[in-house]
Amino acid sequence: MDVLTALRTRRSIRAFKPDPVDEALLRRVLDGAREAPSWSNTQPYLVALATGAKLEAVRTEFLAALDAGPPVPAFGTPTDYPPPLKERRQATGYGLYGALGIDKRDLEGRAKHFRRNYGFFEAPAVMFLYVHEALGAWAVLDCGLFLQSILLQATALGLGSCAQATAGAFPEVVARYFAVPERYRLLCGVSLGYAADAPANAYRPTHATVDELLIAGR
Ligand SMILES: Cc1cc2nc3c(=O)[nH]c(=O)nc-3n(C[C@H](O)[C@H](O)[C@H](O)COP(=O)(O)O)c2cc1C
Repeated sequence: MDVLTALRTRRSIRAFKPDPVDEALLRRVLDGAREAPSWSNTQPYLVALATGAKLEAVRTEFLAALDAGPPVPAFGTPTDYPPPLKERRQATGYGLYGALGIDKRDLEGRAKHFRRNYGFFEAPAVMFLYVHEALGAWAVLDCGLFLQSILLQATALGLGSCAQATAGAFPEVVARYFAVPERYRLLCGVSLGYAADAPANAYRPTHATVDELLIAGR
C-alpha cells in the first residue's frame, strides 16, 4: 500500500473482532514504525505490547481503576479548547455519537461509550507508548511520529487501530505488568485488531482542508 492510500484509508477503529492478532504481525507493525525520524535519532520511546491474558488483566484493572476514581495520566488532560479546536472536537464527538445512535442528551449512553475507551474497545492487542522524560516536548513529538508510523503500518497490514490517550490514564496499572525503565513515562496507547463491521467504525470525521491549514499572508 502506498503512503497516500494508507493516510486516506486509516481511520480510528472503535470496535474489533475478537480474533487474536498474530504476534509476528504486531512485530511487523513495529518493524515499520521503527523507521520513524526522531530528535538526533534518540528514538526516545518504548512500547509495552499487551495481548492475551496479560491484556485481559490490564483491561480489568483499568476498568476497576476508572470505577474507583478519576484517571491520573502522566501528561494531564487538557481542558482549554478555544476556537476552532472546540468546534472540531464537538463535531467529532457528536458525529461519533450519531453514528452509534446515542442522542446528545443521552448521558447514560455517552457514559457507556466513554467507559469502553478504558477497556480499549475490546481490542485483542494494545501497544502502550512510553516517552523518555529527558527531552520534554521533543520526545513527545518523536513519539507522535512513531505513533502515526504505527497507525499507517497497521493500516497497510490490514489491521484496524485507534490511538488512545485513555490508554495512558492509569500508568501504575501498566507498570504492574511491564518492567518499565526509569524516566520513561506513559503517554498513550494504540488499540489494534481486526475491524468489526460495526456502526462505530462507519464514522468518518472531517479533516481540515488544505486552505484551512494554510495561514493567510499579510
Ligand atoms: C494522541 C491521540 C489520542 C487519542 N485518544 C483517543 C481516545 O482516547 N479515544 C478515542 O476514541 N479516540 C482517540 N483518538 C482518536 C481521535 O479521536 C481521532 O484520531 C480523531 O477523531 C480523527 O479521527 P480519525 O482517526 O478517524 O481520522 C486519539 C488520537 C490521538 C492522535
